[in-house]
Amino acid sequence: MEERSDMREKLVFLETFGCQMNDSDSERMLGILKGINFARTDDPGSADLILLNTCTVRDKAEQKVYSTLGRYKELKKARPGLIIGVGGCVAQQQGEKLLKRAPHLDIVFGPHNVHRLRELLLEADSGQRVVATRLTETIDADEYGVTGSSSGEKAFVSIMRGCNNFCSYCIVPYVRGREISRPSSEIIKEIKGLVSRGVKEVTLIGQNVNSYGRGLHEGIGFPTLLREVNGIEGLRRIRFMTSHPKDILDPLISSFGELEKLCEHLHLPVQSGSNSVLKRMNRSYTREAYLSRVQALRDLSPGISLTSDIIVGFPGESDEDFDATMDLIEKVRYDAIFSFKFSPRLETKAADMPDQVDEGLKDKRLLILQERQREISLEKNIEYEGRVVEVLVEGGSEKNHERLSGKTRSFKTVKFDGNEELVGELVQVRIVKGYVNSLIGEMIEKG
Ligand code: 5AD
Ligand code: SF4
Repeated sequence: MEERSDMREKLVFLETFGCQMNDSDSERMLGILKGINFARTDDPGSADLILLNTCTVRDKAEQKVYSTLGRYKELKKARPGLIIGVGGCVAQQQGEKLLKRAPHLDIVFGPHNVHRLRELLLEADSGQRVVATRLTETIDADEYGVTGSSSGEKAFVSIMRGCNNFCSYCIVPYVRGREISRPSSEIIKEIKGLVSRGVKEVTLIGQNVNSYGRGLHEGIGFPTLLREVNGIEGLRRIRFMTSHPKDILDPLISSFGELEKLCEHLHLPVQSGSNSVLKRMNRSYTREAYLSRVQALRDLSPGISLTSDIIVGFPGESDEDFDATMDLIEKVRYDAIFSFKFSPRLETKAADMPDQVDEGLKDKRLLILQERQREISLEKNIEYEGRVVEVLVEGGSEKNHERLSGKTRSFKTVKFDGNEELVGELVQVRIVKGYVNSLIGEMIEKG
């Protein structure tokens, strides 16, 4: 891969692991690459550039990165001009060590260096091996807003980055740095641009969106930002994630009753239903406080769907602690949960806590939790049968182009028959059947 200024279109193979922050960073990478004549390919074998955007939140995610990277060794041998880069949280955490571990790797770049991708490629082209893992405490105006590659009906918009919470199990504050918000004017400008290109739904993302605005001179908070976004003409739906339960205050809760574009879904990770575990996790709320926030939300928005993240097998988690989590899911009746076995992460407090839970017991608890949640999810989805819901059509199925799928405002996946031309449209669908992870419907009309 010699010159980047020539006109020949180059191909990039990009694989994204992990959370929506990485999805959004990958979009930025693609936007930058598009500007220097790269197109995306699904085939690493034909790529001029291979990028992995990585996750280190649990050990399993990290190991997957190493095995994937290993697969590209032969490709590099066959074509020395191929450039291979690793971005994201594993890159940030491992830095130089990654280059040592993988001699066929050219670029290691952390989440704060995504906007420098172009210059990093030039350095790699000139034969250097590059590490870019500096964490910065400010955000430059040109770092975000490069979403040139997204052309769909929905988009992620980063409103802040980093995290100051230091939950005792979590590596994120170490690899994504301190919390910092983007000025609201830039966010609004970015969303208006997306809407002008046909985007109907935005998801405002950050590790902890409820503390948006802290540290900004403009004296703005998250509820005010939501109100401003709600006012953007042409935009139809707003979502946000992730929220920290300690920061779900009344003004935000009232947004659900007041802002017509704000979708009736909240991802509110509880992590555990036991107060003693929550305390050791450094989550700064109790189960009672959490349940009272849920009640306040449901009082205002009775149909709101709720999802959560739950960790089982946190150090010292007793049978009683686990029972408290099971009891909490009965009380909340989440629409869906993401559940994980505790995975000790380097540098975090929980990794060194006493009474680490046996792997077998973690497996057992995870299974019990997931089985019960499947039943609850199914019951909740059956409740949709007969209802008419608004669906934003996302695409046809690979096998059958007349089989469409999309999301309700409450974030349920709906499958139904319809013409592929409806992709990107809002349609009204009557639900005929609820399954654990999706709903089946019949289209009534274009909304
Ligand atoms: N072990 C297991 N799960 C974790 N998560 C974060 N860190 C860990 C860890 N060390 C989970 C939390 C978080 C989600 C993104 O990942 O539930 O909300
Ligand atoms: Fe990790 Fe806690 Fe920050 Fe979420 S709020 S990113 S779980 S430290």
